[in-house]
Amino acid sequence: MSEARILGIETSCDETAAAVVASGERLLSNVVSSQIATHQPYGGVVPELASREHLRAIVPVVRQALSEAGESYQSVDAIAVTQGPGLAGALLVGISFAKALSFALNKPLITVNHLEGHIHAVLLEEKQKGNFRVEFPVLALVVSGGHTHLFIADEQQHGWSYRNIGRTRDDAAGEAYDKVAKLLGLGYPGGPIIDALAPRGNSHAVRFGPAQIKHRNRGVSHEDQTAFDFSFSGIKTAVLRYVQLENMGADIEARRAALASFAKPRPQDVLPQCDQKTLDLIASFQRAVVDDLLSKTMAAARACEARTLFVTGGVAANSELRQAFEARAAGEGLPVFFPSRRLSTDNAAMIAAAAYPKFLAKDFADAAFSAEASLAL
Ligand code: KG4
Ligand code: ZN
Repeated sequence: MSEARILGIETSCDETAAAVVASGERLLSNVVSSQIATHQPYGGVVPELASREHLRAIVPVVRQALSEAGESYQSVDAIAVTQGPGLAGALLVGISFAKALSFALNKPLITVNHLEGHIHAVLLEEKQKGNFRVEFPVLALVVSGGHTHLFIADEQQHGWSYRNIGRTRDDAAGEAYDKVAKLLGLGYPGGPIIDALAPRGNSHAVRFGPAQIKHRNRGVSHEDQTAFDFSFSGIKTAVLRYVQLENMGADIEARRAALASFAKPRPQDVLPQCDQKTLDLIASFQRAVVDDLLSKTMAAARACEARTLFVTGGVAANSELRQAFEARAAGEGLPVFFPSRRLSTDNAAMIAAAAYPKFLAKDFADAAFSAEASLAL
């Protein structure tokens, strides 16, 4: 068969996304419609609003992805859609649309786990660069607004197999970024703003010890490797305590009021509203999160004798995180790969790419499946 063109659809959270990828390796289009302006006033994603915005965006986003790829509804070979994990109502918009397309066009439908999508974003990125060789086992850190997971991946006859060896016990790392940004009146989403502001502060100014990023062991067997679990709710509380102790409340309220007029405040809008103490706090927070992600991931890589490291998900777009992982992995002789920034955050190209091995294996979905908000990988 010639190249298989797969239309991917992703609506698990607050981005309505569609993309066309040829044979899991050639990106033909990648359209992402963000709902940031809708959720910005609330400092986080509001599920009901997310579903409504997906309903509005899904048809134009899919049409644009097809047209940018030079394809049509008739010309694609299969439709792939995110089944979970994610917000049930948001997932259902993509799933219902994908099912209707598959039925009307008589094309196979493939379901994809969102986390596997993030992992395949790295592979797609490498294939775009002409790198087709990956040494297994791969250790994949999926770090986003909803997830902080470590997976050991191996190659099977049809696609990859995954073993979860670490996860967050409470908040995801991206959630910590978003909550700290909300707490400090910096706007939503917090990740990109904190990323841009952190270099302006002294990351040694505020000490967040391991006590703030600790977790209780799950107390289960060694195979479960509890040592690689994460916890990010403590650091958020520590930031809150620091703010109270240092009487930063009035400054935060003033900043919030000053930024309220921006639909989507940019770092250059936020910077003039921040004093040095705030910038130091932001830098110290980021350093603590990056240090923790790095040390646990590298410990897991050693324990599992990983041959390759993948770092993916929205937080993988973070500049300090990328530099820290690149430096440490190079020191340990471990190849580390990231997606480009546009493939790090939620997108549908990763869904179309992850669907390709299933397409080859004819692993198609039947019409009865539904959204799985807590789908495991
Ligand atoms: O992968 P993603 O788009 O959605 C989920 O699957 O959750 O990740 C979104 C998360 C948000 O929490 C956002 O604040 C964070 O990724 N994020 C970042 C950066 N860009 C996005 N965190 C740190 N640094 C960034 N540059
Ligand atoms: Zn995601």
